[in-house]
Amino acid sequence: MHFKSWEQYFLSNCNHFDHIDWNESRSLTPGERKTIAASLSQFQRGEHSEGKHFIQFAGSLNDESYTSTVKVFIKEEQDHAMVLGKFMEMQGMEKLRHHWLDAIFRRLRILAGLEGTVTVLLTAEIIAMVYYKALYKATRSELLQQLCTQILVDEEMHLRFQSYTLQQVYSRKSRLSVGFSRFLHKVLMAGTIVMVWATHYRVVKAGGYTLFSFARENWFEFMKCERMIKGKSSSFPVTGFLHHAIKITV
Ligand SMILES: [Fe+2]
Ligand SMILES: [Fe+2]
Repeated sequence: MHFKSWEQYFLSNCNHFDHIDWNESRSLTPGERKTIAASLSQFQRGEHSEGKHFIQFAGSLNDESYTSTVKVFIKEEQDHAMVLGKFMEMQGMEKLRHHWLDAIFRRLRILAGLEGTVTVLLTAEIIAMVYYKALYKATRSELLQQLCTQILVDEEMHLRFQSYTLQQVYSRKSRLSVGFSRFLHKVLMAGTIVMVWATHYRVVKAGGYTLFSFARENWFEFMKCERMIKGKSSSFPVTGFLHHAIKITV
């Protein structure tokens, strides 16, 4: 398996939001809006990136198909920003231009080359897996729930893609260096869980999570990626897997 398969997967998934029914006239209740608005605008902002540095760093892997895969992956994340932005416009919510947490993540990605970029991205993808489940449960908007479901399906594959990439990056490093990188990633993950809880607790709590269960579910996703990175489970994009991947209990 190589990056060509991932590129084909992302290309085949380019119509991922075509099935969404946008004809929802229901407005969010004042309570839902109070819970969701600020948090959703931050995540919508976080989903959008031109990915200039990522594309630049991708060249360091000396695999042309990786660079072209990164481009279609970035397009998929931009689609997430686009559909969430469209939903926010329909609901009269303001988009965010800047947020400190998003700025920190963008700065971290730039600092440490390809490995740092992918590590930070994977951390964000793991958080997204739990956050969008919480958001799904925090709203009664069927449209927003449809968007969350599709984003979750996409993000599950992003976990696999980033884990596979890290596996490739680590294959060129010593065991000691890889061990240190994995330690740093654990520290980053733990810190991010606390920061996201502190910033987005309204949505996360409305989604039925406590700090403990939020941390536990994020850690479960992290360890799933850890096993893929270490080659102990498959990260290959299996088409049939997609429809069974996401189980959302409302
Ligand atoms: Fe996303
Ligand atoms: Fe993602």
